[in-house]
Amino acid sequence: MNGAFLREFLRNPLTVAAVAPSSERLADTVTAPVPHTGSPVVVELGPGTGSFTAAIQRRLGGRGRHLAVEINSRFAAPLAMRYPRVDVVLGDAARLRDVLDRRGIGRADVIVSGLPWAAFSAGHQDDLLGAVTDALAPDGVFTTFAYTSTLWAPAAGRLRRSLRDRFEEVVAGRTVWANLPPALVYSCRRPRIRPDLIRPDLIRPGVRQLSASRPGSAEPRTGAGIPG
Ligand SMILES: C[S@@+](CC[C@H](N)C(=O)[O-])C[C@H]1O[C@@H](n2cnc3c(N)ncnc32)[C@H](O)[C@@H]1O
Repeated sequence: MNGAFLREFLRNPLTVAAVAPSSERLADTVTAPVPHTGSPVVVELGPGTGSFTAAIQRRLGGRGRHLAVEINSRFAAPLAMRYPRVDVVLGDAARLRDVLDRRGIGRADVIVSGLPWAAFSAGHQDDLLGAVTDALAPDGVFTTFAYTSTLWAPAAGRLRRSLRDRFEEVVAGRTVWANLPPALVYSCRRPRIRPDLIRPDLIRPGVRQLSASRPGSAEPRTGAGIPG
């Protein structure tokens, strides 16, 4: 049991929302889209004590950029000490666009989330997912996880619907049993960008133009692999 993690859960149950850090197996699965070549921009949301941070750093092997946005200073400070190659940002993931703008970064190639979606209100979930789709490259990948024991809960259903509204493709992976509690990973591709948020300065030549469908629109959904 990780003492620091448990202590922060007891202090901030609604932002930490887990009693133990994610396992290596879950970290491997959720960070799988981080490419082994090139110089990708990888953003991590809610790194906590760094389960996913370690896996992302292993995959990057010194290439690219790795930003980790953490709202809790008791997690952020030790993480920055432990991973000097990671740009650890103390702040709210909902402000991701500002974080990237301040660094002159247009879009992220991969966004990996450790955020506890089920603990968030509908409005907060929506703000955070909006920040993700606004920051992700049109050909980028967003991954996040959910505990299988709470998939029945209204907040979990709301997350699935929001993911399908926000992305053209949403695939749920197999249950990762080697995690406390067991979890599954959603891999989301092709963000649907709201027309009013399109920024011409961030459209890269040769890359698929941004989709102009609005979250929650009546456009047919092509998301696959996740039930209701
Ligand atoms: C369930 S823990 C996951 C920690 C780690 N990724 C793991 O899987 O072991 C959730 C993390 O998200 C952080 N967090 C919650 N809300 C956040 C927000 N709005 N912005 C950034 N981090 C947030 C919490 O402080 C905590 O570190």
